[in-house]
Amino acid sequence: MQNIDWGSLPFGYFKTDYNVRCYNRNGAWGKIEVSSSEYINIHMAATCLHYGQEAFEGMKVFRGADGKVRIFRWEENAKRMQRSAEGIMMAEVPSELFIEMITKVVALNEKYIPPYGTGAALYIRPLLIGSGPQVGVKPADEYLFMIFVGPVGPYFKEGFHPVKMQIVRDYDRCAPLGTGHIKVGGNYAASLKPAARAKEEGFASVIFLEAKEKKYIDEAGPANFFGIKGKKYITPDSHSILPSITNMSLRQLAADMGLEVELRHVTVEELGEFDEAGACGTAAIISPIREIFDRETGKSFTYGEGEAGPYSTKLYNKLRAIQYGEESDPYGWTTVLDI
Ligand SMILES: Cc1ncc(COP(=O)(O)O)c(C=O)c1O
Repeated sequence: MQNIDWGSLPFGYFKTDYNVRCYNRNGAWGKIEVSSSEYINIHMAATCLHYGQEAFEGMKVFRGADGKVRIFRWEENAKRMQRSAEGIMMAEVPSELFIEMITKVVALNEKYIPPYGTGAALYIRPLLIGSGPQVGVKPADEYLFMIFVGPVGPYFKEGFHPVKMQIVRDYDRCAPLGTGHIKVGGNYAASLKPAARAKEEGFASVIFLEAKEKKYIDEAGPANFFGIKGKKYITPDSHSILPSITNMSLRQLAADMGLEVELRHVTVEELGEFDEAGACGTAAIISPIREIFDRETGKSFTYGEGEAGPYSTKLYNKLRAIQYGEESDPYGWTTVLDI
């Protein structure tokens, strides 16, 4: 076990001992390589550097109450990465290779898996890049798939405490028929400026609107948005939203709690009708929202008295308990890694 202050880890890069890599050349995946270098040697004309042929995933591994190491819904991340690859014409990573490499890199870095009870987890970052050279705008003929890991604390320094978010109208994260539904780097590049400005202005994150009509909520920074209205769990549906695996799971848990689940357009005006609001994703599960400020109209929507609402709290606790193996996992969402 490493001598790490697990309880105060940030959500950030943490050097561990090994990463794993695999190349796709001439249309075939090669052997898995283990590396202890944090660097990759890459051709200067690689398509990932010029034309954005890059996709990634973000997942977590948890040390459970029973000492077992669990990964959450990895099949969904594998499928999403395949959709990302297909969307920008990269070689797809088969699910079997995806989980084999995860298992290997987690086993190699086992001492960095945070102990149960610290609230920390081991973050897994699969990365797929076009590594072959091109000068014309064309897909590469060589791809590198690699995975690194590192222990992380919660994404928002506030943890499970309500944050303030800001609606932006002068930036879009993606185009209506663009790449918002897949996890490719360009979407994140486009979000950097409004996110940095929101931080400077005192907000934890931005809320992007659907770019065509600017009427509907799209995403809450690098997370999906949801609201609770009476006995309903409501979350936006749009082609430009990344389908969050956390949101997919919360929808199921919400239905199990007797909430009606609605996946549909959510207008800015409707924000005024919610009892609770939150952002959801792997990094934080749920970040409850206490205020949404519309930067252009100056209008504010507020939720609760500074504490997370009852449904958000229940949903958060339930999903967390499944991930840490504290409660039964009726849908088989977790897989115990044999490491
Ligand atoms: C843009 C965006 N939306 C939503 C999510 C949440 O997805 P997930 O719950 O699969 O982590 C993420 C994080 O991966 C994201 O980057």
